[in-house]
Parts: sequence; structure tokens; C-alpha cells
Amino acid sequence: MRLDVFTLIPGAFEWLRERRPVAAVLGTELELRVFNYRDTTPLRAGQVDDEPYGGGVGMVLRVDVVAAALDSVYGGLRDHRVVALTPKGRQLDQELVEELAEEPALTLLSARFEGFDQRILDHLSTDVVSIGPYVLSGGEIPAMAVVDAVVRRLPGALTEGSGEVESFSPALDGGLEYPHYTRPPEFRGWEVPEILLSGDHGRIDAWRREHVRSAR
Ligand code: ADE
Repeated sequence: MRLDVFTLIPGAFEWLRERRPVAAVLGTELELRVFNYRDTTPLRAGQVDDEPYGGGVGMVLRVDVVAAALDSVYGGLRDHRVVALTPKGRQLDQELVEELAEEPALTLLSARFEGFDQRILDHLSTDVVSIGPYVLSGGEIPAMAVVDAVVRRLPGALTEGSGEVESFSPALDGGLEYPHYTRPPEFRGWEVPEILLSGDHGRIDAWRREHVRSAR
């Protein structure tokens, strides 16, 4: 997958490259590119935002700035999904994550300030996505959430040498997770379920399936 992020804070995405799941698939299943709207803005002095028509507080990311950024990377041709992150979009859930993870290429648009000029959502994006019903100060954290959730669904993202799968893995269906325990087997009287210590992988599997929590 080729994953492109457009942002005003490209540095915020750097640590992702060094950590799983991104680090595990970077250069093989994943190409991650981060673009700064300021680098291609057609406005003077790196301007990217403006006051809203009709008045009001805050600044709005301009449509011409986003169009110029997209054109500089894709030319006039965009044949993949362009996801704008806003608090009012379709709520991200595991079903949408699975859908996005199937795409060969994906673009994420994040905004600071009060958000996007509506024309960016109407004409330059294919999807408008929210990570939850609350308002954050920008789309960077939402974009990182999408990157993480999507990239962990790429082949090899969750395996480390051993080929073992994590709980939140295709082996148990992408939307599912079971409780984990590790040593010590008893702490302050809080015990690990006996089945998990039994070494009986059939029973352990059954127990885990029974205790799955749905992420949907
Ligand atoms: N930008 C600000 N808040 C957001 C949210 N909850 N989801 C996606 N983008 C956002």
C-alpha cells in the first residue's frame, strides 16, 4: 500500500516509522509519504489558512492550498481514495479499517485550525472520516490513528520473526481482541485464569474465543 499523509506538522509522523506496525512493513508492504501543505502553497509567505467567510473564530484551511498540494503529488489524476479527517465524518470502526486496508493507495488529509473549507470535503475528498464524536485540535492524531489501524492489517505488520500472531489479528478476525495475562501467575491474590497456564492449546484457543471483546 502507498499511504500519503498531508499535514502542517510532518514531523509528528516521524516516530511512526520507527515503531511497529509501520516499521515492520515499511519498504515492503508499505510506502509512507508525508507532505506539508506549506511546501506547495500558491499563497505568499507559506500561508495556508484564512478567516472564514461570514465571520467567526479561528482559521480555515484553504481549498486552493489543498488542491495545489494534491496536484503537486498526483497531477490531475487521482484514482484512489482521499480521506479527509474531521469530527463530523463517518465514524472510523474496524469495518472501515478493513475496507481501507484493502486499498492499494490511500491519501489522508489533516487540518489544523477550525478545519477544512467545505469544498475540500465536497470536491477533493472521496471520504470524510472521524475517529470519534469529540473535537480535537487538529487532524494529526486522527490521521495517526488511521495509519496505525490500517497498517496493522497489512501482511507481516504484526509478526516478528516467530510468525506468531497478536490477539488483534486476522487469525481471530480483525475486529476481535481477547484478554492478556503475563507473569507473575498470581499477584496480590489476583490470579491468571488456570486454563492459560495449562499448556492445552485447544482449550486456550476456545477460552480466548469465548472471551473476545469486539472492537466494532
Ligand atoms: N479533527 C478534529 N477532531 C477530529 C476527530 N474527532 N476525528 C477526525 N478528525 C478530527
